Amino acid sequence: MSRQEPSAEPGGEALPAPAVSAVSHCLRSLRSVRRFLAADVDQRSIEFVLEHATRAGSAKNRQPWRFVVVRDAGVLAELTVWYRRSLRKLAALDAARPELFPADDRRRAQVRESELLARSLDAVPVVVVACFLPIPANPANFYGGASIYPAVQNLLVAARAIGLGGALTTLQAVDELPEAACLSAGNGVADELRTLLGIPAEVVPAAVVPLGWPAQPLTVNRRDPVREVAYADRWERPWTPA
Ligand SMILES: Cc1cc2nc3c(=O)[nH]c(=O)nc-3n(C[C@H](O)[C@H](O)[C@H](O)COP(=O)(O)O)c2cc1C
Repeated sequence: MSRQEPSAEPGGEALPAPAVSAVSHCLRSLRSVRRFLAADVDQRSIEFVLEHATRAGSAKNRQPWRFVVVRDAGVLAELTVWYRRSLRKLAALDAARPELFPADDRRRAQVRESELLARSLDAVPVVVVACFLPIPANPANFYGGASIYPAVQNLLVAARAIGLGGALTTLQAVDELPEAACLSAGNGVADELRTLLGIPAEVVPAAVVPLGWPAQPLTVNRRDPVREVAYADRWERPWTPA
């Protein structure tokens, strides 16, 4: 299906057409990148993506984010050990509860991709660990997540715009799966990550984002069409494309 061009809007705030086209291309080719070239990522590029991450909205504009930018080879090596161990824990959960984690094609593909990242994480130029500062009025749950993940998405979009690739990974949240309690021995994976990076106990690591120059060209991402996921006014009324 061909894309609909948006109609002109009142008020004149729209970006010029080539910029709109660039934003559209950026979002449509925003892919999770887990294979990177060996080339380093310069400080200015890192600052560019962080600056745009901090342009996200957050509840009451509290800006409850902090970013640990990991580049040191020693720290990366430890992070990789942590990542591999956490992935094994997730695999154990999958195996213990096949009804919750059916081994369909999508799941298998995701596990393959996660393993791929695990194998080479210590060679990734940069890993950004996005952290959330919870308060009682904005706790670390769905509600609080709504104040940190827009910043992570901004980071990924800004990265894509300058040719960097990344992936939002959430292995540090494995502990929160109800089944995790029976498998955990010692600290949970989030605590291990805190210890590794010196993150205070009250701060929540919300995403681990490898960043680098993609090893392969980015193709358009595959998503269900809008007509299958949007409704007109009420749930049961299908959205009709223009
Ligand atoms: C909430 C969330 C959690 C995710 N967790 C992981 C993860 O732990 N590991 C990983 O490799 N990718 C993870 N991803 C990336 C998804 O696998 C990816 O967005 C999805 O498969 C679509 O692939 P694409 O981005 O290449 O189009 C996560 C994405 C989201 C939004």
